[in-house]
Amino acid sequence: MRILGICGSLRNGAYSLSALQACKEVAPPGFDFTVRRLLDIPMFNEDVYEADGYPPGVAILREEVAAADGIVISTPEYSHAIPGALKNALDWLHGEPGLLIDKPAAILSTAPGSLGGIRAQYELRMILQAMGAATLAKPEVYVAGSRTKFDASGTLTDENARKSLRTLMQSLEAWVERLRVPAIS
Ligand SMILES: Cc1cc2nc3c(=O)[nH]c(=O)nc-3n(C[C@H](O)[C@H](O)[C@H](O)COP(=O)(O)O)c2cc1C
Repeated sequence: MRILGICGSLRNGAYSLSALQACKEVAPPGFDFTVRRLLDIPMFNEDVYEADGYPPGVAILREEVAAADGIVISTPEYSHAIPGALKNALDWLHGEPGLLIDKPAAILSTAPGSLGGIRAQYELRMILQAMGAATLAKPEVYVAGSRTKFDASGTLTDENARKSLRTLMQSLEAWVERLRVPAIS
């Protein structure tokens, strides 16, 4: 099962990036899990697309999303919302047809505070709904107090948090299977 993990933070050493690495570590054996950063995604501008098509980083991201059986978006919270870089990347996934239509998706957030970025998750859910994605409703997973849950090398050391991510990955696996369109024989 091909799963694309998209990191909403551009920062080297981002907790949301480390959380995706942890998802990869605890994922079911059948997952082919790729972690994707958004460093090569320029600002969305329809003029750019109309003149030259998709910029190279965007074209690759679109191919990766199209090829994935499911996606996982790991986001921090900026001003109670998702980072502009993540919203920008999602905007590039529009088009005819939109690449996220019926795409199984799981989301998670991280934050140093006690709310774990949950407010950003609600915004992300709304955006994914607008784009037609099939976002997993439960479990709602966030890593609060992120500064104490990861070690200096970015490994998620908190057992409860690892368990939550494992449950999320197992739920995504079941969700992808459930939404799979049976082949016509
Ligand atoms: C512009 C900006 C806005 C932020 N706003 C919030 C916020 O609304 N809620 C919150 O919990 N943390 C907020 N933070 C703190 C981030 O959660 C923290 O920097 C986090 O580590 C960033 O995620 P990352 O480690 O994945 O890059 C903000 C940080 C920045 C830079």
